[in-house]
Amino acid sequence: MHQEVSLLATVAIGFVFAAVFGYLADRLRLPPLVGYLVAGIMMGPYTPGIVADSGLASQLAEMGVILLMFGVGLHFSASDLLAVRGVAVPGALGRILLATLLGIGLCSLWGWGLGAGIVFGLSLSVASTVVLLKALEEHNQVDSVNGRVTVGWLIVEDLAMVLALVLLPAFSGVLGGNADVAAGEAGGLAITLTIGITLLKVGAFTVMAIYFGPKVVPWILTLVARTGSPELFTLSVLAVALGIAFGSAEIFGVSFALGAFVAGVVMSESHLSHRAAADSLPLQNAFAVLFFVSVGMLFDPYVIIRDPLAVAAVLALIIFGKSLIGFLIVVLLRFPIAMGLSVAAGLAQIGEFSFILASLGVSLGLLPREGQDLILAGAILSITVNPLVLLGGDWLQKAVRRKWPSLFEQYGKSKHDALCRELERIRKISDERNRQHQLEMQQLIGTFPMFAQVDENSQEELLLLFRPKVASPGERVIRIGDRGDGMYFISSGAVEVQLEDDPVRLQAGSFFGEMALLSGGRRTADVIAVDFCQFLVLERRDFNVFMSKHPALRAAVSDMAKERKAMNVSRRKRKKSLDAT
Ligand code: CMP
Repeated sequence: MHQEVSLLATVAIGFVFAAVFGYLADRLRLPPLVGYLVAGIMMGPYTPGIVADSGLASQLAEMGVILLMFGVGLHFSASDLLAVRGVAVPGALGRILLATLLGIGLCSLWGWGLGAGIVFGLSLSVASTVVLLKALEEHNQVDSVNGRVTVGWLIVEDLAMVLALVLLPAFSGVLGGNADVAAGEAGGLAITLTIGITLLKVGAFTVMAIYFGPKVVPWILTLVARTGSPELFTLSVLAVALGIAFGSAEIFGVSFALGAFVAGVVMSESHLSHRAAADSLPLQNAFAVLFFVSVGMLFDPYVIIRDPLAVAAVLALIIFGKSLIGFLIVVLLRFPIAMGLSVAAGLAQIGEFSFILASLGVSLGLLPREGQDLILAGAILSITVNPLVLLGGDWLQKAVRRKWPSLFEQYGKSKHDALCRELERIRKISDERNRQHQLEMQQLIGTFPMFAQVDENSQEELLLLFRPKVASPGERVIRIGDRGDGMYFISSGAVEVQLEDDPVRLQAGSFFGEMALLSGGRRTADVIAVDFCQFLVLERRDFNVFMSKHPALRAAVSDMAKERKAMNVSRRKRKKSLDAT
């Protein structure tokens, strides 16, 4: 008996089923994602028992795709994309074209029209981001050259699909679908207008992403990181990712996933990106699971029994047809055989974009419902056997290397080496940026050992809170009787605290200005620079917030202040008694 369930129940049942079947799959030595897909099938309308809300599940799945694309963006710089464009752009576009032609051919065998063929072919031509990324992560390949090429290829595919999604309604009338949608009835002029507007919007989106994103996003993150609140930071990371994804979908008409990817790329410019990545990872994983569950839910397993030949043909097109095309394009572009095989195997499945395209095709009256079922069957089967395809790819690589060692090593070597050099150069730049940051942290702790007692995140927070300040010899840094506005840490140079007639000299590594901040009163002495000085200043408000979170540090600073005060009192007494005698 079927039972309808709500959002909370969908999430709860989704997680419970996914955990159980994921575990079982693991015990059977299958990848856990097969378990998640089975969990989805069990929760779907085609199997007896519970029926979760597939509409809700697919929205939750979209969250998974968004977070995942955001995660990829965080590890991917715009320069990486540019570096792999030589193979990714012609490869992705060429493969979409050829795979779509194959799809059209298959559909014409079944007697379907051109419109159905185009939707069907396009749906089969685009690989699944979620599956590919999970596989790359599992094999530790995200940062490898072949991994970068595959991800770049996938991004180009996704971009092309964004365009296809926008253009499909405009062309549906011409292709024999419902003409009442969008510009259908208005004919050529309206189509040109739609294309123009789409390109304009995508252009505006790119300009925003390139010029404003890298300025605004790291600034927001720094601002929030300075508050020192970990949950506010995680929240802001999610807000930026989802906000940009949603905003770009609403304003520029690009997909959520692409918006999120761009949010990630933009955020990767900030040195806080590794923290953002770590913070968003658990959510990413959880929602990626829901993605697989929701795919399972949409699937009607009886299509395999109803139409085994068609399913087999679709699967063959996805796994063999697409792979062969991908491999040939890479090799024809004179890149190595290993790269061709790894790109081919990595992208030998279909996923989220395929479902979106298929359901759009059905709603436009272009694709028969049977076509959508076949696409889903193709997706679920190709995702399930993907680990095997990857193993097959590895095996083929070894076989080719054994049989034709010199061809394997030499073919495409020069282009490969050039690409490696370019990627290496980009990596060096970002490593250098990280190293600089690391160095700053080390210097901070080297100069002020007291900060070694706070954790790394707080040290980073301190770096953000400190305001640099310089002073020349003879300059008064603090005036006695003023209100305390900040605490000073001496990075280099020296100062003298003017105490009666016997000044105290403070060197690099010392601090001053803490007394007025702790007491809330006035400055107790003049402080004069006696050398060229560099200070790190912690302003009053930041001082209060930071110290309240680190009581041990506060105690150390206040002990020092007490010691100094006692020293000053005894000096004053001594001076008085000297004056009296
Ligand atoms: P504050 O009173 O805010 O401004 C003057 C600073 O001089 C004071 O904080 C201390 O940091 C510093 N200071 C005062 N007395 C001494 C001392 N005896 N030795 C070193 N530094 C001192």
